[in-house]
Amino acid sequence: MGRRAKITVIGAGNVGATCAHWAAAKELGDIVLVDIVEGLPQGKALDLREAAPIERFDCDIIGTNHYEETAGSDVIIITSGLARKPGMSRDDLVAKNTEIVKSVAQQAARYSPDAVMIVVSNPLDAMVYVAWKASGFPTHRVLGQAGVLDTARYRAFIAMELNCSIEDITALLLGGHGDDMVPLTSYTSVAGIPVTHLIGKARLDAIVDRARKGGGEIVSLLRTGSAYYAPAAASVQMAEAIIKDKRRILPCAAYCDKEYAIGGYFVGVPVMLGARGVEKVIEIPLTPEERAAFQVSIDHVKELVALTSRLMA
Ligand code: NAI
Ligand code: 2OP
Repeated sequence: MGRRAKITVIGAGNVGATCAHWAAAKELGDIVLVDIVEGLPQGKALDLREAAPIERFDCDIIGTNHYEETAGSDVIIITSGLARKPGMSRDDLVAKNTEIVKSVAQQAARYSPDAVMIVVSNPLDAMVYVAWKASGFPTHRVLGQAGVLDTARYRAFIAMELNCSIEDITALLLGGHGDDMVPLTSYTSVAGIPVTHLIGKARLDAIVDRARKGGGEIVSLLRTGSAYYAPAAASVQMAEAIIKDKRRILPCAAYCDKEYAIGGYFVGVPVMLGARGVEKVIEIPLTPEERAAFQVSIDHVKELVALTSRLMA
């Protein structure tokens, strides 16, 4: 008899609790929700567990303020940290979240030395770097969630434009989780039909722009925080690919050295995601314009990592 997978979600706020919700609904495994606020993870875990007889999922869900209960996790999702408020960019969160992500990654890694770590806290591409350094994990077992969310937004807007099923839209996106991310229209199709055959350039440019600013659009509507349903669904899709060894091809913030000539940073690229974490980074040909846009985003990620490295020193 195989044991159930074990998923630790650190941070029981909006994204963390919603990750637990999606993971339980998919019956992905037993879930441990961790937060520094006493009572918060315990209360949310119990509340979710009480939904099990209605939604019919069999998994243990516990909340805790300690790491002992996380021992032996297969996947660790890090969502702890401050979220954006109106007027703030993701980069404004860097100092506080470096401290938080460093501390939680160290503690979680100690209790689950074989886990795959998915980082969600912002600024994403720099926080993955922090978690990698703090955990001591090999690069293939640390990655960040950004591209699954960003392409989901992009795909949602294309479906809204065409009034067609989201199921038929596939898309790819490169770069960091900032407004300079690079949705690739040349790799976007609707049931195999290039999107450029279906949507004119001006509309498509507007959709790309909206996808890039998708996080800010939700922040300005909510006013008290940032998005969480789609970010959590994206994180759980990555966890599912790992737990079920699906070898899905998803855009994730993965460590690239020679790949795309990045030189040792975590940036959004297509990866094959399976039981080992990043099974491989997939390199695709880019037009000179796409490469130039990707470079702008990479340079931004490098600046952020330099800043977090100074903060960690
Ligand atoms: P939130 O404020 O609702 O939840 C954050 C939780 O982290 C709080 O419950 C807080 O008590 C907890 N926390 C703080 N320090 C902690 C520590 N040392 N140990 C354990 N828990 C700690 O924020 P929300 O909306 O859940 O966002 C969480 C993070 O995820 C933010 O940094 C946000 O910017 C980021 N985010 C990233 C996305 C992405 O696509 N990568 C998308 C959405 C949010
Ligand atoms: C988002 O893209 C704020 O990173 C967060 O919604």
